[in-house]
Amino acid sequence: MKKILFMASEAVPFIKTGGLADVVGSLPKCFDKEQYDVRVMIPKYLCIKEQFRNKMTFVDQFYMDYLGQSRYVGILQYIYEGITFYFIDNESYFWGSKPYGDWYYDLEKFSFFCQAGLSALPVIGWKPDVIHCHDWQTGLVPVYLKGRFGAGEFFSKMKSIMTIHNLKFQGVWDINTIKRFSGLSDDYFTSDKLEAYNNGNMLKGGLVYADVITTVSDTYAEEIKTQFYGEGLDGLMRARSASLHGIVNGIDYDDFSPEKDRHIPYPYSAENFREEKLKNKLALQEELGLPKDSKKFLIGIVSRLTDQKGFDLIQCVMDEICSDDVQLVVLGTGDEKYEGMFRHYDWKYHDRVSAQIYYSEPLSHKIYAGCDAFLMPSLFEPCGLSQLMALRYGTVPIVRETGGLKDTVWAYNEYEGTGTGFSFMNYNAHEMLDTIRYAKTVYYEKRSEWDKIVERAMKVDFSWTASAKKYEALYDSLIG
Ligand code: ADP
Ligand code: GLC
Repeated sequence: MKKILFMASEAVPFIKTGGLADVVGSLPKCFDKEQYDVRVMIPKYLCIKEQFRNKMTFVDQFYMDYLGQSRYVGILQYIYEGITFYFIDNESYFWGSKPYGDWYYDLEKFSFFCQAGLSALPVIGWKPDVIHCHDWQTGLVPVYLKGRFGAGEFFSKMKSIMTIHNLKFQGVWDINTIKRFSGLSDDYFTSDKLEAYNNGNMLKGGLVYADVITTVSDTYAEEIKTQFYGEGLDGLMRARSASLHGIVNGIDYDDFSPEKDRHIPYPYSAENFREEKLKNKLALQEELGLPKDSKKFLIGIVSRLTDQKGFDLIQCVMDEICSDDVQLVVLGTGDEKYEGMFRHYDWKYHDRVSAQIYYSEPLSHKIYAGCDAFLMPSLFEPCGLSQLMALRYGTVPIVRETGGLKDTVWAYNEYEGTGTGFSFMNYNAHEMLDTIRYAKTVYYEKRSEWDKIVERAMKVDFSWTASAKKYEALYDSLIG
């Protein structure tokens, strides 16, 4: 049995702020259980729902020297849908209403997590062959495996994979601070290791020391070798390109299933969506207080409201988007400027725009199910899961051709009768607007063509099956 440990800062169903949690929580279930024992380790945040915290069982505890003090490390366990999740407990670090907050404090917190997590493995008595690390929060793990921890017998053969879900976030502070939090010596802070642009960089450590690097789509794997998308690390990505693989994300086809979804009022399938999906649309309009009109083109957005997601494009042409033959619903939280913008338009065009500025799993499902189109004009998008969810529910994505959006949404071609969505290339508000208008024309004037797009969208397979096989092949290549 090959043993793989995922280390990450979030995982569904316990704690989620974005797509990272969906991936870390859903991918482990999709490996061949005869061959792979995949477990997951995340912090035990106090903000994990009580229903889960109450059911965690205590495994063990120990004390670890960290920043000149002896610190408590508790290990808890929860077996969820057959997968063992470990939780690293230390309330002085993992309190708070959200997993992340203050940047500086987060650096200390996740440096602690990397060290405590590795130290916990011999205590648990479970020795993974590969530690699969996700994003900057676990960037120090590959570094430790090749250094301080790797020197011991228990860790000496352990391999690591570093998966980039978002290169924008790297865990950066001045060298002295990162040195102190990581406990790494001076010689790690050179430009071929953890130093970058005169700072210490935790993700860079992971990218230098991991045996293999992956990211979450083929296109993003190429893009990050360029200056525009490389976030200052494009040189490193080029240098490590032989070890860099793009593996596109999937989604959990049980959680996101228009036929079985308990959050939506009228389940439907690729066979009966023409009648049944519309019922969800009417129910959604009613819930949102929008005029109930099954014919009106209803666009949905479910997103973190940040620059990454292309909201400045939307801001530029919001008045034009909200013409009288469109309804728009937005569910999201994030930058105040975008929260404020959508609230403003909700007030200005109350009969067309609905701004829901909060986080809600049930409403997100109702939007994926009830809308006609889903707008995601990202500036960059490592993979993107929302468009996969939209496809699954036959809600036609309108996206910018970048990263995973380019790899998962195929542009409608009216001559060939192919495609699962609409897309545009340049980061330009009017190009986006033209594409929205084109989609709207097909919707209003060629309804049977539109329905065929919906049908094709619902039939593409973005479950984890194919991608899990690719990860298995990588694990095999490392384990030998
Ligand atoms: P990212 O991880 O960059 O935020 P993804 O598309 O990969 O983008 O994943 C976003 C995930 O978070 C999706 O599952 C989406 O449905 C969910 N999500 C984002 N904002 C909200 C919200 N306000 N309420 C519910 N779910 C949300
Ligand atoms: C990040 C990316 C997103 C990706 C997700 C899961 O949050 O922004 O594109 O889908 O990670 O890999």
